[in-house]
Amino acid sequence: MHFGQSLILICLVVGLGAETEVLTGTPLPNPPRANISQCALVNDNDRYDCIPRGNATQEICELRGCCWSETKAGIPPCFFQPKFLSYKFKNITEKPDGLEAYLERSYKSIYPNDITVIKLIATYQSDSTLRIKIIDPRRKRYESIFPEKEINTPRARNPLYRLIIEKDYQGFKVVRVSDNTNIFDVSDLANFIYSDQFIQITTNLPSTYLYGLGEHKERFKLQSNWTTYTLYSRDTSPLPNTNLYGSHPFYLCMENSTKSHGLFLKNSNAMDIIIQPSPALTFRTIGGILDFFIFLGPTPSDVLKQYQEIIGKPKMPPYWSLGFHLSKFGLEDLETTKDYIQRNLNVGIPVQTIWNDLDYMDQANDFTYDKKNFNGLPEFVDSLHEQGRKYVVLFDPGVSAGESEGSYPPFDKGNELDIFIKNSSGQNLIAKVWNPVSTVYPDFTHPKTFEYWKLMMKSFHDDVAFDGAWLDMNEPSNMIQGSLNGCPDSELETPPYLPNVLENSLNKKTICMTAKQYAGVQYDLHNVFGISETNITSKVVSEILGERSLVIARSTFPGSGQYAGHWSGDIGSNWEDLRYSIPQLLDFSLFGMPLMGADICGFFGPSNEPLCNRWMQLGAFYPFSRNHNSKWTHQEQDPASMGDRVINSSKKALEIRYTLLPYLYTLFWQANQNGSTVARPLLIEFPEDPNTYEIDTSFLWGSGLLIVPVLEENKNSVATYLPKGVWYNYYTRKILRSVGEVIDIEVDDETIPLFIQGGQIIPTQDFKPLTEDVRNSDLTIVAALDENGNANGMFYWDDGISIDVGKNYTLLSLKVRNGTLSVDVINKSIEEPPKIKSIEILGLDESFNQRILHQRQYDYVYNKERQNLMIQNLNINCSSSTSLQWS
Ligand code: NOJ
Repeated sequence: MHFGQSLILICLVVGLGAETEVLTGTPLPNPPRANISQCALVNDNDRYDCIPRGNATQEICELRGCCWSETKAGIPPCFFQPKFLSYKFKNITEKPDGLEAYLERSYKSIYPNDITVIKLIATYQSDSTLRIKIIDPRRKRYESIFPEKEINTPRARNPLYRLIIEKDYQGFKVVRVSDNTNIFDVSDLANFIYSDQFIQITTNLPSTYLYGLGEHKERFKLQSNWTTYTLYSRDTSPLPNTNLYGSHPFYLCMENSTKSHGLFLKNSNAMDIIIQPSPALTFRTIGGILDFFIFLGPTPSDVLKQYQEIIGKPKMPPYWSLGFHLSKFGLEDLETTKDYIQRNLNVGIPVQTIWNDLDYMDQANDFTYDKKNFNGLPEFVDSLHEQGRKYVVLFDPGVSAGESEGSYPPFDKGNELDIFIKNSSGQNLIAKVWNPVSTVYPDFTHPKTFEYWKLMMKSFHDDVAFDGAWLDMNEPSNMIQGSLNGCPDSELETPPYLPNVLENSLNKKTICMTAKQYAGVQYDLHNVFGISETNITSKVVSEILGERSLVIARSTFPGSGQYAGHWSGDIGSNWEDLRYSIPQLLDFSLFGMPLMGADICGFFGPSNEPLCNRWMQLGAFYPFSRNHNSKWTHQEQDPASMGDRVINSSKKALEIRYTLLPYLYTLFWQANQNGSTVARPLLIEFPEDPNTYEIDTSFLWGSGLLIVPVLEENKNSVATYLPKGVWYNYYTRKILRSVGEVIDIEVDDETIPLFIQGGQIIPTQDFKPLTEDVRNSDLTIVAALDENGNANGMFYWDDGISIDVGKNYTLLSLKVRNGTLSVDVINKSIEEPPKIKSIEILGLDESFNQRILHQRQYDYVYNKERQNLMIQNLNINCSSSTSLQWS
């Protein structure tokens, strides 16, 4: 162990008594009055709120032993005295892979049921990951059941961090060894509270460049002006400062040195996270335990890989799911659905997948279809398959509880297996979602629910051979508060501290907090309802299909990326929401959910032609590209309904997408293998350039493609920051050498600006209207040279559907050095991969030696003005390594 001297010294000094002595709790006294001169030392920005979300008065404040002084609005007037004696380390023991310590509380906190003695267990998980778990040593508390990925046995040889306990035993911190940056700085435990229903801890931050903590409608860089981010899964149209569908207690921090770190709090209870300008961040969770994973990076992509080692890496999507999807709520019958698709196919929109919303169901009941309005649905789905298209349907988690006995197997079977969520008295909890009368919810934590869900899905699939599952309303959403019988009076329904949740209630728009599941109570499990359904569905659908499944889920939690993709829910059809779709997309890249997109052209409210025109262009570059519309807008927004300009824009952008599918698929494979990002924020690609830290109006696909959408109405130009280096205009292939500057791009109405980064090789295939034909078409390798004439890339290819991703695939490593492209076969599939038909070199000045190309009788064209060389009519077999030289 190479740990800091300071720590070892402390361990020697602190052998205070035996464990049993420390564990004997006595009732806690009230705290003494705060020391006014100590209070005066605290800067406004360093105040830690002593009456959070309460009505602060001087009297209450002083009784709590806190400091009182009113100052600017938004800054807490009642705040903790520095080094206020909350918990103190009592017993510290060094272990082979970490450290264990007890902390004992001195005074009552402001919440009931303080846990007077707590235990801190630090585990040196790896050189870059430190886990700090703080528990009640006497009583087992709920610990989040997700992510369910097993955590490796700790193995740290030369940790990048050091854990330091303060000399006064009233704090601790995690320091980056190389530059002494405080990564997790709890050096003052003054406001640390660990009570039964309120746990609070504050860390000082090394910078205000923070990202993550979703799901929120927020810019990519989070605010730090006493800003509260609430995590509590909720069915609501995305609004700012509101808890939304998913809960991801993870942040990435870019330090001032340009290094970065991340932190994940594995806790699924409702929580507030407050960021104040000092900067500092406070977690306030209302249950569970503290279980932190701290990732030392030092690059942001390292942080994300380290994070995904803990939560699980993203699932490999089926190839076809990267095609364009068309959906709409309100396709009321099969004829309307067919017309909707056909009119788009007629104008040349490459619709790969057709979606039906709950309209297809009989009475909005899962696992049924409306035999009158959707008569012939099974045959329609078969015909889609014959055409090479796919079909996805919506499933709500709740099943109808209002059908007569024996008429609706999903209810009868669920009862027989006894797998529905129960109310506090042990009967089925009856709620109401879309079903005509009432709804019950399968308990996806129950061991028998897998069997149940598979049975239901399978019998429906036997009728309607769907290819993917769209999981809606799984917060879980409920159209009445709590249940048909309300909720009992309980501290679970109205806890002593209520996070800043929408409508100030935990059980509005969802079920009672006292509802019982196999794994515990809804109070603890609410935020993991979505992931528990998604996990089971992903496996069930794969088993039914015998193929990789496509699952898109609305409510997500850390680890959901292993099972599904996500869409950003019921956003508005307006320019603001078009713009916010980028930070939301980038957030889910941080959360390990790369298969993400927003409803193209917006969901709520009528869309319009200029908006939809730009949105179809951007949406063609969402990793999950789907146009979906609400039923109430009375404004169609599929490309065909919007007129020529939208049709042309959509075709142009989607055709580019389809030619880039081999690149996009390769990025997904890399994400699946290594936890890298697909839609990539610029700061991940250019962490050493702080100019990228606030950019959320453009983004990359991997390292290669920069996407700069037009996000404003009536604009034919867009200003964008181009990081230092060589870039190529995707359309003209013209070279741009940036010193790290903002450039203005002129653009017509039908084009989305795109740039290729020098140094990258992008595999492309021919545009075909069906993804399967793209996958099998010939390759064109586009090598965009950097300033030294070099470039690198990869090409991953498989059958697009096999569940076992690492079994049968072709992997090529592509490299340009000294005027030669080398294609190295790293792995070879049983089937022959596509052939290389052409090679395009960007950024080649005319001094290169054309004699070689003549001698070898290559068919080539060199464009002096564009500086690009196209070698065509090749027929290179990718089953064995090869190279091609042009100078
Ligand atoms: C809410 C979903 O977010 C939306 O996409 C869907 O159309 C409706 N539910 C109806 O199922």
